[in-house]
Amino acid sequence: MKIEFTLNGKPVDVDLSPNLRLIDVLREHFGLRSLKEGCGEGECGVCTILMDDRAVTSCIIPLGMVQGRKIETLESIRETHNFKIIRKAFEKTGAVQCGFCTPGMVVATEALMRKRNKPTRKEIIEAISGNLCRCTGYHMIIEGIEEAVQKREGI
Ligand code: FES
Ligand code: FES
Repeated sequence: MKIEFTLNGKPVDVDLSPNLRLIDVLREHFGLRSLKEGCGEGECGVCTILMDDRAVTSCIIPLGMVQGRKIETLESIRETHNFKIIRKAFEKTGAVQCGFCTPGMVVATEALMRKRNKPTRKEIIEAISGNLCRCTGYHMIIEGIEEAVQKREGI
């Protein structure tokens, strides 16, 4: 079955089973190695991508679901203005420790920053509620996101 979608800004199509997991297609067919797999069950958030600007876990999305949608991975998110701000903010607050959760946290932060100009602390906590971190106790990540939002606003 031919499935067409936009991947990192470019129109693409694949002729593969719609039941394949999106994470596998992105990694193996398109070579997008920024995507990591943790739990494989939609629980840890390590495999987070953007689908139509929303953060979703690619390990539980079947390929057939992306027909006509806009998919973005860290490979293109790394080129955004927000990403530069997020990276500096995360460095400043110590949000990156072992780094395992960081790609998913960055993608979730990018989704939040696209959706809300000035998210509240509650909205920040909600935005990363699907992303597990075993190192930071989340405080440094939440502070990193607050810092990123403030820097973008020029506060
Ligand atoms: S690997 Fe997808 S949520 Fe854990
Ligand atoms: S920094 Fe290690 S899991 Fe989050």
